Amino acid sequence: MTTKRILSCMQPTSHLHLGNYLGALKNWVKLQDEGGECFYGVVDLHAITQPYDNDTLAEATREIAAAYIAGGVDPEKSALFVQSAIPGHSQLMWLLATMTQMGKLERMTQFKDKAGKHKERAGLGLFAYPVLMAADILLYKATHVPVGDDQKQHLELARDVAATFNTRYNRNFFIQPEPVIMGDATRVMSLRDGTQKMSKSAESDMSRINLTDDADMIAKKIRKAKTDPEPLPETFKELEERPEALNLVTIYAALADKKKERVLREFAGKQFSEFKPALVDIAVEHLAPITQRMNELLKDKAEIDRILQSGAEQAREVADPVIEETMDIMGFWR
Ligand code: TYM
Repeated sequence: MTTKRILSCMQPTSHLHLGNYLGALKNWVKLQDEGGECFYGVVDLHAITQPYDNDTLAEATREIAAAYIAGGVDPEKSALFVQSAIPGHSQLMWLLATMTQMGKLERMTQFKDKAGKHKERAGLGLFAYPVLMAADILLYKATHVPVGDDQKQHLELARDVAATFNTRYNRNFFIQPEPVIMGDATRVMSLRDGTQKMSKSAESDMSRINLTDDADMIAKKIRKAKTDPEPLPETFKELEERPEALNLVTIYAALADKKKERVLREFAGKQFSEFKPALVDIAVEHLAPITQRMNELLKDKAEIDRILQSGAEQAREVADPVIEETMDIMGFWR
């Protein structure tokens, strides 16, 4: 296969935040516009690996799809699908689970973080999460997977599982996907603690900017973001020991599509009292149209459902033959 096949997904666990946007979604749009064959999924089967609300799961799924479109994913160019609508994800997951070593899953840092102190009480689904993610990717024979830095280890596992299958069945069937970790904001940090990743699950909503936040909320969160008393330095090197300052400069640079060094040249010697309002302006300028478009899209649920149905058909066209061929290779009666 010579064309790039791009696949990536997000969980409908909560509203998307600035980290999801800068670390992933913005890059999905770039890759789509460069002409790749793109599949973007909402991974609801992953979302149920932790406590969730069954009354709002479907709505949360639509919201993520709306965020993709509002952020620039074009359903005419990319297939937008919901994971649970394509049976191949669960089927392939089981097949791959039989050739994934427990020891490798035990090393996954995300499992350790999410399971916390009581590993023995964590569900099997949470433990097997990376196998389902490998299935998501291998099912489409994706060549490139644009993600934030935190998914690197999961991608390694997907490559490993592909290689294991190919070796065991002695053929070059699954493609080893390349992680695409693009741009400078591959790991956006919390606004309250520059050493922690911005995340949907962090307790304080003030730690993240959600794509659903309005301009006043964005301004409030940036105004209250943790900083240090020093003015901004001239060089990037001087930010190394200042995680909060580095994070805000990184966010500014990513939103403005500028190099961090250039942002520092503009703001060197200035206090945060001057930098923060500039950051508010650029964040609002960038995010307000996305939020507005998302809200408009969410008024027409039937249209979102139509887009997701059509995306699921395109996804199944690729996924079904891969499942059939996998089962043939593995020797099943059919
Ligand atoms: P999820 O839903 O946690 O996050 C979605 C995407 O956002 C990126 N991301 C970030 N990037 C920069 N800074 C941050 N603070 C930040 N937080 C999140 C993530 O790296 C991701 O790209 N396991 C995946 C979902 C998944 C998937 C897949 C991804 C399931 N199957 C197949 C790719 C391919 C996850 O939990 O993403």
